[in-house]
Amino acid sequence: MFEFDILQQEGRARRATFRTPHGTVTTPMFMPVGTQGTVKGISPQELLDIGSQIVLANTYHLMLRPGEQLVAAHGGLPGFTAYPGPFLTDSGGFQVMSLGHMRKITEQGVTFKSHLDGSRVELTPERSVEVQEALGADVIMAFDECPPYPAEPLYLQRSLERTVRWLERCLEAKTREDQALFAIVQGGTSGELREQSLALTLPFATPGFAIGGLAVGEPKEEMFPAVALTTGRLPAHKPRYLMGVGHPEDLIAGVALGVDMFDCVYPTRTGRFGYALTDDGRLNLNSSAPRRQLEPIDSGCDCYACRSYTRAYLAHLIRAEEMLAPRMLSLHNLRYLHRLMARAGDALQQGTFFNWATAWGERYFRQEV
Ligand code: GUN
Ligand code: ZN
Repeated sequence: MFEFDILQQEGRARRATFRTPHGTVTTPMFMPVGTQGTVKGISPQELLDIGSQIVLANTYHLMLRPGEQLVAAHGGLPGFTAYPGPFLTDSGGFQVMSLGHMRKITEQGVTFKSHLDGSRVELTPERSVEVQEALGADVIMAFDECPPYPAEPLYLQRSLERTVRWLERCLEAKTREDQALFAIVQGGTSGELREQSLALTLPFATPGFAIGGLAVGEPKEEMFPAVALTTGRLPAHKPRYLMGVGHPEDLIAGVALGVDMFDCVYPTRTGRFGYALTDDGRLNLNSSAPRRQLEPIDSGCDCYACRSYTRAYLAHLIRAEEMLAPRMLSLHNLRYLHRLMARAGDALQQGTFFNWATAWGERYFRQEV
C-alpha cells in the first residue's frame, strides 16, 4: 500500500503512480476540493468522467457538520458521498486559521468558535487524527499551523517547531494502517526557516510530504523559491503535495520543480464566477464578446460542456442566473486542469516536458491583439 513508483523523470519533474486502498492514481495530478463532502455542483459520476483521481475533504467542516460519526456510519467518505475513489482529508490546521473565530493557539492545540453556531470547539493533533480516521480518507494530513503572510520570523520559527511536535503527536495518535499520514513542511517564504522545518520534519519519514504555508498571499517570486528549496530536499521516492495551489501556470511551474500533487478551490470558484480556463488564458463569460460566439469554450476540450454548448449559450445562462452555468464552468475548469496534468505526464513520457511547458506558457500568456 502507498507505493510510489516514478515512471519518468526530466530534471526535477516526474511522472509516477501512487497506490492507495481505493485505487492507484497517476501523478502529476490536480485534486478537486470537496470541502463539505461534495465538489460544489459536480456529481461523483461527473468527477469520474472528467478524470478526477483523488477528492479532497475537510476535517474542520465535516467535524462541525454533520459530525464525523455520521460519515463513519456510512463506512466513511466513499459511502457517505458515493464517490468510490480515494479521498484526502486536510487536518483542519489551515481552516481553523481562516474560518474559526476567537482562535486561541496553545501547545495543546487550537480552541475556536465554530463559524456555524458560535459553539466552542477544540482541535488538537489527537482530535484531528480521530476525526480523519472516522472520515476514512486514504491520505490524511498532519495537524499543523499555517501562519498568515506576512508573519514575524520569530513567530514563524515557534510555529514551525510546534507543528513538528504536533506531527509527532499525530503519528502517536494514529491507529489505522490503511491511511497514509503526510507531514507538512512549513517555514513561510524564508529559506532559513524552510530548511529548519525540513530538518525537523524529514526524520519522521512519513509516506508523503506536503509543502504548506504557501499560497497565502505572498508574491509568486517568493513562493517558487520556497517550493524549489523544499522539493530539492524532500526524498525523491515519496509523493510531494503543494497545498492550495491551483492556477494553471503554477501547476506547470510546480511540476517543473518536482511537485506531484496539487489542490485548490480555484477552478470551481472561478467557474462559479463565470470564468473558463483555456490554453489561451482565462475566458470571461460575463463580458460582452462571448454572448455572440457560436464556438465552445475550448475547441480542444472533451468535457460535456465543450461538446454540448456554445459560449453564447453559457453566457446566456450566466446572465439568466441559471444554475447550469456554474455547474458547467466548474466541470470544464476541472477537466482543463486534469487534462493539463495528463498532458504534462504525456510530455514527461516522451521526454519533452520542458519544451511542452515553454510552448504552453507562450500561448497562455500571449496578449491577444
Ligand atoms: N492548505 C493550504 N495551505 C495549507 C497548510 O499550510 N496547511 C494545511 N493543513 N492546509 C493547507
Ligand atoms: Zn470543456
